[in-house]
Amino acid sequence: MRTQVGIIGAGPAGLLLSHLLHLRGIESVVLESRSREQIESTIRAGVLEQGTMDLLTDAGVGARMKAEGALHHGFELAFEGKRRRIDLTGLTGHSITVYAQHEVIKDLVAARVAAGAALRFNVSDTSLRGLDTETPSIRYRHEGEEHELQCDFVIGCDGSQGVSRASIPHALRKDYERVYPFGWFGILCEGPPSSDELIYARHDRGFALVSTRSAHVQRMYFQCDPKDSVDNWSDDRIWAELHARVDSHDGQKIVDGKIFQKNIVGMRSFVSATMQHGRLFLAGDAAHIVPPTGAKGMNLAVADVRVLTRALDAFYVENRSDLLDSYSETALKRVWRAEHFSYWMTSMMHRIEGASPFEQQLQVAELEYVTTSRAAATAMAENYVGVAPV
Ligand code: DHB
Repeated sequence: MRTQVGIIGAGPAGLLLSHLLHLRGIESVVLESRSREQIESTIRAGVLEQGTMDLLTDAGVGARMKAEGALHHGFELAFEGKRRRIDLTGLTGHSITVYAQHEVIKDLVAARVAAGAALRFNVSDTSLRGLDTETPSIRYRHEGEEHELQCDFVIGCDGSQGVSRASIPHALRKDYERVYPFGWFGILCEGPPSSDELIYARHDRGFALVSTRSAHVQRMYFQCDPKDSVDNWSDDRIWAELHARVDSHDGQKIVDGKIFQKNIVGMRSFVSATMQHGRLFLAGDAAHIVPPTGAKGMNLAVADVRVLTRALDAFYVENRSDLLDSYSETALKRVWRAEHFSYWMTSMMHRIEGASPFEQQLQVAELEYVTTSRAAATAMAENYVGVAPV
């Protein structure tokens, strides 16, 4: 089989790229190792930057996001028993939408299926060939048979453990990594929102985050030991911990509800430079990971895809390869900005084991600063809503 662009991975990056290329008349095939049910139900973050919202809307896949997502114009920082608001729209003119990543996935899969796209699930034994030639190919197994997909380009959207990044020779790659000694315990619960906006809380017991999914389902997180097990946490223990970390001294309390999902995620920062090799280009988690604080992961994947779509369009329509040649350099500028922001917000908000009282006071001083200085609040807000699209 032959196509123009072979895409490995049906996460937000792979599906969105396939959809945007289709809108420009460029053919692609998407190969995914998991099932459609798995990708449509995996629980991930839920904040869409202004640029992500605009791109999904312009691409005709934003209707359900607009109808069911919650448009937020600010968020709250809770610390020292008080709550202070960051006025995103007042400071930047932009906003964010809280809409779960797997809902974006469902919308993209539906659009691709409706267009009759070649989308293969449950693919295994994927390997890449001829990346430094003009005729690369992808070999894979599907429904018990071996296949070879010949293409002009291979796009690796297969996450941090996928085959794509591993196919770039070690000598040509530099990896940057930081692993954090804590994780996030995430819950989904039934009940009304605790607040109109997200609350990011710094407490001596550790970080906590109050987010939402709908009028009846809420998403919350609290810092935990990444090696802990969800079985050690009864519902009562979880609520006691969340109340201790988030409730304010003036009586604002989070609302408890029946917990129906619990999970623990580890946290790390990772960047692969380069993001390209010959005819292989990486996008999203295949090239970079951010800790979840600030919810940049999917937004970065979308930003990569925006740059890559423009570069592939210039190649096919104008016969230019300069935008492809500079893809990694262009994408990495935004990646490093988001890496810094996620690291900064993580460092300011989390309990750092072994931190001295002096270092703890510095965290509080920084929170005081970003919530009282217009300049500091604006810097935080513009990073949160997403710096101007490249
Ligand atoms: C959510 C996750 C985040 O990491 C974040 O910063 C904000 C919200 C969420 O899942 O809703």
